[in-house]
Amino acid sequence: MSKKIFIANWKMQLNSIESVALARSVARALKKYQGEVVVCPDYLSMSAVANTLQGGPVLLGAQDAAAYERGAYTGEVAACDLALLGVKYVLIGHSERRSYLQEEDKLLAAKIKMVVASKMIPVLCVGENAAERKKGKTAQVIKSQLKGTLQFLSASELKSVLIAYEPVWSISTSGTGLVCTPVEALRVKTLIIEWCLRIGLKKVRVLYGGSVNPDNISAFLKDFDGFLVGGASLKADSFSKIVNL
Ligand code: PGA
Repeated sequence: MSKKIFIANWKMQLNSIESVALARSVARALKKYQGEVVVCPDYLSMSAVANTLQGGPVLLGAQDAAAYERGAYTGEVAACDLALLGVKYVLIGHSERRSYLQEEDKLLAAKIKMVVASKMIPVLCVGENAAERKKGKTAQVIKSQLKGTLQFLSASELKSVLIAYEPVWSISTSGTGLVCTPVEALRVKTLIIEWCLRIGLKKVRVLYGGSVNPDNISAFLKDFDGFLVGGASLKADSFSKIVNL
């Protein structure tokens, strides 16, 4: 069985100095940790954070990658350059990018292709929003997001994809004040696995994200292959508590 993976998504919450300081504290707190722990700083901080993490157990992740080869794409960052910096995991289609930047399923497939071509692991984020859940459309939304992206990938690309189920309404900054229960999260994970099986993807690893913190992680732990942590990853002690539980 592969080890659980813990991914810290720092979003656009920290400046470079704060990012380096947090990376240093996380690396210190987890220096003996043997599993997969990843931090995803913003682009501006990545190089400095990469230097800070060098030689330690904490891996570098990215919050996004371009859907194109290196070239004339103003404002983008090529997957191959993330790989050169030492990035191992790349978040693709986080709900904030889907909603604020209108990232669509086909574009996400193109990003995944670039990430896999550079030998990194894409983490495709899926999840329904509060209105969709209220209308009972969770299964439909998840299936459509998975199909919308995975249909464009080859069998070998598919094999390297991790899926993160993140109910948008349960993300700590979503403003709903709601937190998904482990039972509801597991129900969706089962749907994800069933749907992936139908397209021939047998051993997909599914992560969970949405207000994960040191107090609630143990209830989710046995059911998921890993976790995507936002708010609670911004302090080294809460993030290392989550990882060490
Ligand atoms: P949260 O964020 O842990 O603050 O809810 C998770 C995410 O957006 O990935």
